[in-house]
Amino acid sequence: MKVLSKKGDEIQILALSGDKIEKGDYLIIDDGINPRMIVQVFDETYLDSTGIDEEILRDELFTADKMRVIDPDRLQTISYMIRDARILRSKIRGTVISGKFNPEIGWLPSRAQSSIRRISQKELNGLFEIMASHPIVLGKNAGQEEVIVDAADIDGSLSIITGRKESGKSHLAKLLLSELVRHGAYVFVLDLNNEYSGLASDESGNPSDISDRLKILEPGSNMLFTLKYLGKRVLSEILTHALDTPSITVREYMKIWDQMNEEGDISIRNLYSKINTVKVNDMVRDALISRYYSMLSTRIFANSDVMGIDFKALIGKHPNGGGFLFSMAKMSPMARRVLVQILLSKLVDLLENEDIPPVFIFAEEAHLYFEHTYWEDALTRMRHFGIFFTFITNQPDSLNATVYRQADNVFLFNFINEKDLEMIAQSSRIDGETVRELVRSLPSRKCLAIGKAVKDLPVIVKVRELPYNTRGRTKKFFTLKGSPDAEIKAG
Ligand SMILES: Nc1ncnc2c1ncn2[C@@H]1O[C@H](COP(=O)(O)OP(=O)(O)OP(=O)(O)O)[C@@H](O)[C@H]1O
Ligand SMILES: [Mg+2]
Repeated sequence: MKVLSKKGDEIQILALSGDKIEKGDYLIIDDGINPRMIVQVFDETYLDSTGIDEEILRDELFTADKMRVIDPDRLQTISYMIRDARILRSKIRGTVISGKFNPEIGWLPSRAQSSIRRISQKELNGLFEIMASHPIVLGKNAGQEEVIVDAADIDGSLSIITGRKESGKSHLAKLLLSELVRHGAYVFVLDLNNEYSGLASDESGNPSDISDRLKILEPGSNMLFTLKYLGKRVLSEILTHALDTPSITVREYMKIWDQMNEEGDISIRNLYSKINTVKVNDMVRDALISRYYSMLSTRIFANSDVMGIDFKALIGKHPNGGGFLFSMAKMSPMARRVLVQILLSKLVDLLENEDIPPVFIFAEEAHLYFEHTYWEDALTRMRHFGIFFTFITNQPDSLNATVYRQADNVFLFNFINEKDLEMIAQSSRIDGETVRELVRSLPSRKCLAIGKAVKDLPVIVKVRELPYNTRGRTKKFFTLKGSPDAEIKAG
């Protein structure tokens, strides 16, 4: 391989067909004079040298009937090699100075003297002294080497997993979740399709190695909260953000709360009797009653203290880490909003009082329960308190560009839609060209990992399989019905 040219942060490298280099690979350029340069291949094209037409013509002449001659000097082979020569378009990622990575570069490598070779992930990690304190094996890179990230780099971070439908987003989320939990972290999952519960069993249906660290919470069953536990502020936030309650009605609710507090009976039951006896005009009473019934319809409010969830106790019961899976599939959009608001408000309360350690929240298709303005605000605030989000979505535009810019880690699966790709390309931590070229051609189950977790050295990973029951839960008509043959025989 040889250096051909440099344009901005792009280095073009000439490679022959025998050089086994793939998009996403890292190369090291060593000219013996300057510090070694690390570049990443993001695209490849044919060599369009001015002499190439002539070369092709010459080859054509060799094979033409009239010119059928023996090729003793293997000119034809050389000609093929010229035609198959490729240009590897690469981005400069940094240099190695005294064995340390340095993201800056201020020189051109020698075109004549440079030797170029592929650099393995292991060597790269060694160069940059990447030592994961809490390793998570994501999968393998193109060279079949393990790609390992550090759970510590997901800690304190905002992460986004995005890509088209069925590309393997939830699978990766399950991998991260199971590993975080194994490392002792606490993860709350907004499980829109009730698919994360599969992590509690292995492929043959027996309890998995993390089953005792998982808690599946179902609305109307064990996903229940009491008003008393939630507290006044959380109730006012539920009313304001999740139930669009006018401020005058919220104020009435707060007065009722104070009365219930004086009586020593803060409960959904008492709330109902207070609403019916409070002295307000009919319009306000209607608003109070409608919000009351909205809350009731969510099936996540309990009267009895015994039934209610206590996050601190829940965490206390899982001293080695826990994954708390909120099964949201059967909840109405409004009930989902109420649940999410409860979770965020109450966790902030507990974190402020240092009652619980920092936590992670995994949110599938978060835009389906709150609009992006809500999330933008929540994200910036929540991070300070110690709530770290991972968003999983197949609609990248459901999150605002500012969210992508704030993201510490982005795991990009394939996109078919150019608009989606553009949106991500413009707003991620690396240059748009790398994103565009590397993501466009990704097959399912492979993703481009960008950001802190990969030390800002983007890498394409084939996500590994999991020893759990991780099937997605897309119900399909024909799978449910069985094959037509079976039907006929049965009939
Ligand atoms: N790396 C992998 N190894 C093995 N199976 C995988 C892998 N990635 C995904 N799968 C399987 O492929 C299917 C689709 O994956 P997954 O449910 O993660 O896709 P998705 O991107 O979340 O889809 P959707 O947009 O519908 O939510 C699932 O059955 C899953 O188990
Ligand atoms: Mg999914």
